[in-house]
Amino acid sequence: MITINEHYLKLKAGYLFPEIARRTAAFARAHPDARIIRLGIGDVTLPLPPAVIEAFHRGVEDMADAKTFRGYGPEQGYEFLIQAVIANEFQPRGVELGDDEVFISDGSKCDSANIQEIFGLDNTIAICDPVYPVYVDTNVMAGRTGAADERGCYDKIVYLPCTPQNHFAPAPPAKPVDLIYLCYPNNPTGAVAGRELLTKWVDYALEHRAIILYDAAYEAFIRDETIPHSIYEIPRAREVAIEFRSFSKSAGFTGTRCALTVVPRKVKAYTKSGAPVEVNAIWNRRQTTKFNGVSYPVQCAAAAVYTDAGRRQVRERIDYYMENARIIRDGLTAAGYSHYGGENAPYVWCRTPDGLDSWQFFDLLLEKAHVVGTPGAGFGAAGEGFFRFSPFGDRDNIQTAVDRIGNL
Ligand code: MLT
Repeated sequence: MITINEHYLKLKAGYLFPEIARRTAAFARAHPDARIIRLGIGDVTLPLPPAVIEAFHRGVEDMADAKTFRGYGPEQGYEFLIQAVIANEFQPRGVELGDDEVFISDGSKCDSANIQEIFGLDNTIAICDPVYPVYVDTNVMAGRTGAADERGCYDKIVYLPCTPQNHFAPAPPAKPVDLIYLCYPNNPTGAVAGRELLTKWVDYALEHRAIILYDAAYEAFIRDETIPHSIYEIPRAREVAIEFRSFSKSAGFTGTRCALTVVPRKVKAYTKSGAPVEVNAIWNRRQTTKFNGVSYPVQCAAAAVYTDAGRRQVRERIDYYMENARIIRDGLTAAGYSHYGGENAPYVWCRTPDGLDSWQFFDLLLEKAHVVGTPGAGFGAAGEGFFRFSPFGDRDNIQTAVDRIGNL
């Protein structure tokens, strides 16, 4: 008899965004005339930058010619992209990385989901609450947690509540943990972590021989230059941190798929008997077995982000979305809502009004304003009573959505 991985049965019904899509589709079927505005999933709407498209085309042309055709590429990514990433993303911030420390991939979702499988099942994990659901769900699937309680909190996870009191940026817990998920600029709260807090986390990880999984997928949205873009700006972070970066939101690659993960050679995990193991080598082993790399034209397209034109066009897109975030913030302020984020991060995190829980507010907004957002409870128990608005949308739609929310 074939048996199922019963850890999957511990998961709550569906993944958050398909659940929102399902409810939205049901509403749209029942109200075919409603002009629904979607500010739920953070999916970009502006087309790929022209410099990126041009390089994408060149990559495709190379594949059409026997002289330049490429078959399997390196699983870790092409040197031309890895070197462009290091030279443009890290060196200007004083971070030196070797080519073999950067792994190009098809998304930070996959990488932040897959990375846990190279660590022991007996590790204690610490996860912010609310949080990008992938971190929790993948650890549940792997069997690193117990069952969920009625609030949806899983046994054995150390939750780090993110609240207005701690500016949605919690300090390390008193007890030791082994694997720590941090995401800054934060999804979903739009919070950022300063140098002081990140230093505390790095010191904590050094002290406890823990590893920090640092999701920096939204770093390009930082405006305040005192805020670190990379955890490697913190001394000794290269010994304890793995960092995820993405082309999705900054350069519009949500549908094209390209991202990267940095695994410094100095990062170590240990055997049960305490022998150190290079995590970089294990991740490389995992990737070479399970992944055949990102397609060549996509990597050509990603490298074009670092040309002068690419850089300028990406900046224009980020500015566009951040202006949308400002419109959302101002609209919420005018309508009397408390809100956070949206200044150095795209997402705006708002308190639900009148004691409504976050799914009740979701329903109200959909039914009365025909606006879709993301209920905070979908990101964890501590997200209850909050709601996330994504600024990744068309300007007119954002303005209309804000007007409708104001008229609620
Ligand atoms: C989100 O809306 O939280 C993101 O779009 C999800 C993702 O990047 O996978």
